[in-house]
Amino acid sequence: MQAVVIDNGNLVIQDRPNPEPGPHDVVVAVQAAGINAADTMQRKGFYPAPAGWPADIPGLEMAGVVNAVGDRITEPLLGRRVCAVVGGGGQATHCLVPAEHLIFIPDNASWDEAGGFAETFTTAHDALVSQGHLRTGERILISGGAGGVGSAAIQIAHSLGAQVTAVTRTAEHHEQLRALGADVTITTDEIPSIEPVDVVLELVGAANLSLAQTVLAPRARVVVIGVGGGARVEIDLLGIMSRRATLTGSTLRARSREEKAQVIALVNQSLVPRWTDGELRVPIAKTFPLGDVNEAYDYFGQPGKFGKVVVRFGD
Ligand SMILES: NC(=O)c1ccc[n+]([C@@H]2O[C@H](COP(=O)([O-])OP(=O)(O)OC[C@H]3O[C@@H](n4cnc5c(N)ncnc54)[C@H](OP(=O)(O)O)[C@@H]3O)[C@@H](O)[C@H]2O)c1
Repeated sequence: MQAVVIDNGNLVIQDRPNPEPGPHDVVVAVQAAGINAADTMQRKGFYPAPAGWPADIPGLEMAGVVNAVGDRITEPLLGRRVCAVVGGGGQATHCLVPAEHLIFIPDNASWDEAGGFAETFTTAHDALVSQGHLRTGERILISGGAGGVGSAAIQIAHSLGAQVTAVTRTAEHHEQLRALGADVTITTDEIPSIEPVDVVLELVGAANLSLAQTVLAPRARVVVIGVGGGARVEIDLLGIMSRRATLTGSTLRARSREEKAQVIALVNQSLVPRWTDGELRVPIAKTFPLGDVNEAYDYFGQPGKFGKVVVRFGD
């Protein structure tokens, strides 16, 4: 197979042996793979892949066609169009996936969309529903709204019937965010003036949380998922106490095979039907051919994107 390989902080394309599926695994012939911040951190040597996953091939999500299955698999998976969250190795022409982690993509989904769906929508759904316990009619503040996870979270929260306020650094993408389902769009400096919220989905970190902690409703839940804007912030503990608020956070990558299977089952059950119906979509900022993977990472690292950056491995 051909793989994107991290070599002393550089990305090079190398030939590697195809992965061999374990008894309960499949191999996916990859068509498209999204880039995530974790890939850029891994490239810089800060975020190693968990044990059991390729150490030098980045890629936490990809989409393609199942082309090999383990000898204990009984379902008819060969030839199925799928996408998946993986611990690493997604940015290659072939990727190993535990069979119970497959997400079965709609017939009408493009490879670009499917390549950018798994990590962002799975993360957003888990953060909103399983960590944040977001309920119909509640108010939610979503930072980093124009990014991959943010644009997914806005749509999921809207489809759950929440009142969504999306925060960005500039107003550049506000119209597109309202089209995704944001009821209100603001820039970071406007956070202190909004009505109190029941849930904060913190995708940026300190730069937003320092302000978001001032607009918590009683029993608010703050779910920290990303810290690109700083990992250290001064918290007003009296404010947390007086509002009986909860501050939590999570990562997806390090979870066990069983834990990830539970999260994926919820995605197949509740998000894929909405994706199939057109209620959910994956905004694509830009796609790149495999040969331009360095340009793709450079583009991902720049501010001002709306949606996902995807590398194409297929035709
Ligand atoms: N915990 C998990 O399991 C998990 C899973 C997936 C992702 N994440 C994390 O979640 C975060 C979002 O991921 P993503 O895939 O959505 O990334 P993304 O597509 O790059 O989007 C990030 C967004 O955050 C904004 N942003 C970045 N730095 C900012 C700052 N200092 N102040 C204000 N806004 C800032 C960006 O706006 P601009 O365009 O203005 O830069 C962009 O819209 C990342 O930190 C990622 O590592 C965590």
